[in-house]
Amino acid sequence: MRLSDLQAITHEDLLITRLGTRTVETPLQELLGNRQESVHYVTETDRVLVDDTLGMAKSRALEAADLPAFNPGGPRAKLFFDPSEVTAAIVTCGGLCPGLNNVIRALVLHLRHAYGCRDVLGFRNGYQGLADGSDPVRLTPDLVREIHTRGGTILGTSRGSQDPATMVDTLVAHKVDMLFVVGGDGTLRGASTLADEAARRGLPIAVVGVPKTIDNDIPWIDHSFGFQTAYARAAESITAAHVEASSGVNGIGLVKLMGRHSGFIAAHATLVAQGVDFTLIPEVPFTLDGLLAGIRKKLADQGHAVVVVAEGAGQDLLPASTATDPSGNRKLGDIGAFLRSEITEGLGDLPFSLRYIDPGYAIRSVPANAFDAVYCTRLAQAATHAAMAGFTSMMVGSRRGRFINLPIKLATATSNHVDPHSDIWMAVLETTGQPVTF
Ligand code: F6P
Repeated sequence: MRLSDLQAITHEDLLITRLGTRTVETPLQELLGNRQESVHYVTETDRVLVDDTLGMAKSRALEAADLPAFNPGGPRAKLFFDPSEVTAAIVTCGGLCPGLNNVIRALVLHLRHAYGCRDVLGFRNGYQGLADGSDPVRLTPDLVREIHTRGGTILGTSRGSQDPATMVDTLVAHKVDMLFVVGGDGTLRGASTLADEAARRGLPIAVVGVPKTIDNDIPWIDHSFGFQTAYARAAESITAAHVEASSGVNGIGLVKLMGRHSGFIAAHATLVAQGVDFTLIPEVPFTLDGLLAGIRKKLADQGHAVVVVAEGAGQDLLPASTATDPSGNRKLGDIGAFLRSEITEGLGDLPFSLRYIDPGYAIRSVPANAFDAVYCTRLAQAATHAAMAGFTSMMVGSRRGRFINLPIKLATATSNHVDPHSDIWMAVLETTGQPVTF
């Protein structure tokens, strides 16, 4: 997200689509002992400000009431749906991410126990399961009891979109009132077309997204779930590379991490593990000569060098490819293998040992850590509150620690990138000591 995205946003961009008027008393009050103070209902007229600096707010030259602000996440006193009659459904899509099972579990328990929903269905293997005529699985509290301790998703996942009309037919056939879509930007775009198709047919089906991606490239929110677990696991690989490099003679550790267009995993893992000399991310170009000169200098000064490269970094140094994956993402050249061979050749006669580590899928197939486990549970609860209120074509997330509801169209209009002028990138530069450009 760029500053210009922040500046351009208007009140209209933040409006959430509603299925209709809310007339049903929430059962949450009863669940929590009928004490008025026990449920923190969201004040409908209140909003969560987009701006977090006085300067930004003042620069809009608007009355306070007209400042752009998000619809707040959280429980409503009145609902659109009567929970006792609701059939909800869940689908998990795209690449794996730590915490998928935590989200499934929390959705099922919150829907069934807090709201008293009739049924929760799980469609298998991403959008494919909504289009191939296969039967969904019935998600009971018993079935999901232990799943949060495991990585992956019990529902299975796949990449790629499906025909929205076919998917809506499936929802109608199973009498689904609300669909929770757990996925990244491509998945959320699919959710938006699905919601549009339901709206076109006049069907009151709520479609609510839960933002998942280890790349952390979904804008407007603090982070997507699974990101913290992924970079914590990635940091272990960097530490291993550092141990290897610093124990050898002219040891070089090279670690390739995921991060297609956004270098957040590489940046954060660098800050966790420390000991990195060069962090290479898609957002900041570098030259091979500059990197080789930097490595030579590190070997001369400290006897070892550690390089962390995000998979999307340095793509301009590799032959361009037009091939795409089923999600429509351009297939990337292998920057890790490229750097390994270029460093090996480029150091000439200098004796050195290079250790190359690519933890790849290992960083995203692990169970959620404590932080992500809490976040997943709270996201699932926020998503349930939103769907019950009859909001649709929206996604939940936390922004500066507060839960908000955002239109999917806004969330997918831009991507979150490491801003080379941001304090996070400055922190990386200060930690590695690498030049700003090389
Ligand atoms: O989008 C998340 C992600 O893990 C990226 O970091 C990575 O490029 C991609 O998915 C790999 O996906 P696949 O499972 O299709 O190989």
